[in-house]
Amino acid sequence: MDCLRISGGVPLRGRVAVSGSKNAALPIMAASILASGPVSLARVPDLADVNTLALLLGYLGVEVKRGANSQMRIETVDATPIKADYELVRRMRASFCVLGPLLARRGRAVVSLPGGCKIGTRPVDLHLAGLAALGASIRIEHGYVIAEAKRLRGAQIDLCGPCGPTVTGTANVMCAATLARGKTVITSAAVEPEVVDLGRFLISLGANISGLGTSVIEIVGVEQLAASDYTIIADRIEAGTLLIAAAITGGEISVEGVVVEHMTAVLNALEESGCHILRGHQQITLLATARPRPVHICAQPYPGIPTDLQAQFMALVSLANGQSTIRDQVFPERFMQVAELNRLGARIERSGSTAIVRGVRRLSGATVTACDLRASAALVLAGLAAQRETIVRRLYHLDRGYERLDLKLARLGANVTRQVEADALDMAELGSVPALPVV
Ligand code: EPU
Repeated sequence: MDCLRISGGVPLRGRVAVSGSKNAALPIMAASILASGPVSLARVPDLADVNTLALLLGYLGVEVKRGANSQMRIETVDATPIKADYELVRRMRASFCVLGPLLARRGRAVVSLPGGCKIGTRPVDLHLAGLAALGASIRIEHGYVIAEAKRLRGAQIDLCGPCGPTVTGTANVMCAATLARGKTVITSAAVEPEVVDLGRFLISLGANISGLGTSVIEIVGVEQLAASDYTIIADRIEAGTLLIAAAITGGEISVEGVVVEHMTAVLNALEESGCHILRGHQQITLLATARPRPVHICAQPYPGIPTDLQAQFMALVSLANGQSTIRDQVFPERFMQVAELNRLGARIERSGSTAIVRGVRRLSGATVTACDLRASAALVLAGLAAQRETIVRRLYHLDRGYERLDLKLARLGANVTRQVEADALDMAELGSVPALPVV
């Protein structure tokens, strides 16, 4: 397992290209099950999660080949397998995105329930209710969802949960509806750019979809979907993470290849914290001057500040000259980074679903352990600003969702080195552990 050693205190400078979006690529790869011809994707990020989904697709009779320059070719070679195993779905919840496409294309799907998750309870009731409304028979047996339907039929489906619309739920139902008989109307649909990207991909296959990017999506089912060449959108979460890295180190960077409009709420919050932002054509430049000002952040569904950048903003305001508050309306319990940021000298307290962050002048390097993807990113950012050395352990969380973030940061001047992690508890160093007395 790798860890990242960071010597903090270097302001980031330079230009960096943003990779393709993880959360667009995963549902699009899963949706390729619907296609009757080959699919060529461009700008697919090289990530552990993408590899996990490629492995699952392989078990489902779908051949996935990587090409040069972030290209990927996907083609169904055997349309009979229908089971997504617990071992892969447990590893990555986005595997659940194969449910709608498998059901619609193959008439039957057996997909493991994803189970627990560090960032909240994350039920899938809306996915299942949506597919049931399309006429699927759904039952749960031995931890698996078993969904069946000879041919789905259009329906009116509302996808709003207690914390807002569901992103991958919208993806599952939209995919399933593309091959249903008749018209489906999804209300309270997610409007995230990644859902719009999936919809555009489905249209490129021949689907009939309107209303993308609004809360009402209409899909008129077609008999079959064909082949496609498609380019994935830029990762707005990676772009935001890099910009916050520049802000926290007092640097100046440009992120290139982004869709600037996807970043509006994030850029507004960075400006509120005192950064200067220049919005260009597919490019954003950030200049950080002084210590950050306190900001009140509330993560919300798009177009609000994304929950996937909440932890990174928390790292930034932990150095602000005053008190900030952070809330997450999408995943109200997503605060795993708090204790580890406090180990670096931050002063963060939770009060119910709000984190109160009292800004400190400096953070001090320490060994910290990442426990989820975005929490790891927050720890890396804090390490870039902290005095002396920070070691972020269990880097595989970061590698699930960022394409070589360490290399990108190093090219911007950060002093970071990836290393193979020594065993956390080196027994040889501690001496042998005496046997417990038998009672
Ligand atoms: N919800 C329900 N019932 C459902 C589904 C969701 O109540 O059936 C609730 C959730 O518990 C949550 C809210 O609805 O409170 C929103 O969850 P959503 O379903 O939108 O999340 P998701 O689709 O499982 C995707 C991203 C997440 C991102 C969220 C929110 C992918 C593969 N994952 O998850 O990305 O945080 O949307 O934007 O697209 C990440 O990249 O680090 C990550 C966690």
